[in-house]
Amino acid sequence: MRATLGGTCLNVGCIPSKALLHASEMFELASKDFAGLGIKAQVELDLPAMHRQKADSVAALTKGVEFLFRKNKVEWIKGKGRIDGPGRVVVTTADGAAQTLETKNIVIATGSEPSRLPGVEVDQTRIVDSTGALALSPVPKRLVVIGAGIIGLELGSVWRRLGAEVTVVEYLDRIVPGADAEVATAFQRALTKQGVKFRLGQKVLKAEVNQIDIAIDQPAKFKGGTKASPPAIPDPITLTFEPVAGGPPETLGADAVLLSVGRRPYTEGLGLETVGITPDKRGVIPNDHFRTSAPGVWVLGDVTSGPMLAHKAEDEAIACIETIAGKAGHVNYAVIPSVIYTYPEVAWVGATEEELKAQGVAYKAGKFPFTANSRAKVNHEAEGFVKVLADAATDRVLGVHMLGPDVSEMIGEYCVAMEFAAASEDIARTCHPHPTRSEALRQAAMGVDGWTMQA
Ligand code: NAI
Repeated sequence: MRATLGGTCLNVGCIPSKALLHASEMFELASKDFAGLGIKAQVELDLPAMHRQKADSVAALTKGVEFLFRKNKVEWIKGKGRIDGPGRVVVTTADGAAQTLETKNIVIATGSEPSRLPGVEVDQTRIVDSTGALALSPVPKRLVVIGAGIIGLELGSVWRRLGAEVTVVEYLDRIVPGADAEVATAFQRALTKQGVKFRLGQKVLKAEVNQIDIAIDQPAKFKGGTKASPPAIPDPITLTFEPVAGGPPETLGADAVLLSVGRRPYTEGLGLETVGITPDKRGVIPNDHFRTSAPGVWVLGDVTSGPMLAHKAEDEAIACIETIAGKAGHVNYAVIPSVIYTYPEVAWVGATEEELKAQGVAYKAGKFPFTANSRAKVNHEAEGFVKVLADAATDRVLGVHMLGPDVSEMIGEYCVAMEFAAASEDIARTCHPHPTRSEALRQAAMGVDGWTMQA
């Protein structure tokens, strides 16, 4: 139970992470890339101020939800809710007082929490999850990230830009499972060029926090050391992992560890048993068009099936409430975009090439690199590409995959196109403004039928 509205996204998820991603990107831009644009600057990090501006944005946005509650006459009862049989919710406030609400419909939208890993105990100081990683201070010298998913790569990017040496340890032999493999490979190459180290195909066994009782800024005074050869400083954390394919374990020293191996539905203490709902073995509450097995109890968002994304939950909320109101609520799960807000960004919607191959769908691909896009070129930001996958027989767009700066703002065009069942030729024949990065969307669509003009 939080003191502010907005859930994980506003308080400890999408919003604060994007605040840090933006600020750290500006820091790196000013430190490293201004010179190439003919700008001389002396740049210094003020981490407390960076954290403050993040907190200010979060506070403003959570207040914004409060405002929307008032505007729409939604009553906010501050407390922890528990279902207490059909049509009843008991709310316990911070001072222990309980109140019972009688209702016709109950919507469960309790979200998710970070998954844990045996042997890696999160203390939110040295070993952090996505929440602790938003508040690190000072910048850790060496950060080890467990899990090369969206959280690990976004927050790993933040701390690398601010000065940390970042190593990502991943169980699979690729990064960002779920993303198109060609994009993931190019993305890994881009991050490696920036200095992120990857250890793929590795199973983490444990992370041990070591007791350090020596002053690390005074090596010459260490007991048993001399100024010329101070004794070895123990690592604050030792991470042990072994190859998934078999082989001897290895260790890695770190100043901080970020555990980002996925999220799990949050259903603790919800009283589900009082209405006969049983989550599946992953803790997910099953649903059929937002209906649970209990009459009058509905579910949406991270706590049920589908991708754990704020915009997917938002779509489901609209459709669920429309259904409760007797209207035709619907979510098109084939058109839920995904974005990784790193530099370059990754954005996609629809099927990957691997999925189409597995489904036996005949498709054609059109691809366009940002190196051939004039706007990307003049901005010195020409990394990445756009790939459009279209049905070989009907030309209907089936998937779009992008790597490049600002692609998060460009994927929406293809979401609209796919909702309208567009053919790739529809995009290829739509005038796009010049010079913009969005021209790459059109050029890639032209490529589906082999008539790309700018490359
Ligand atoms: P994730 O599911 O994206 O990635 C977890 C990674 O950890 C995977 O690559 C997995 O193979 C790896 N892994 C699992 N167990 C491991 C182990 N024992 N050792 C090493 N690697 C291991 O999960 P993540 O990044 O924690 O994000 C959680 C959820 O939050 C996701 O559903 C994500 O979509 C969502 N999210 C979305 C954001 C966005 O839309 N930009 C931002 C942040 C989170």
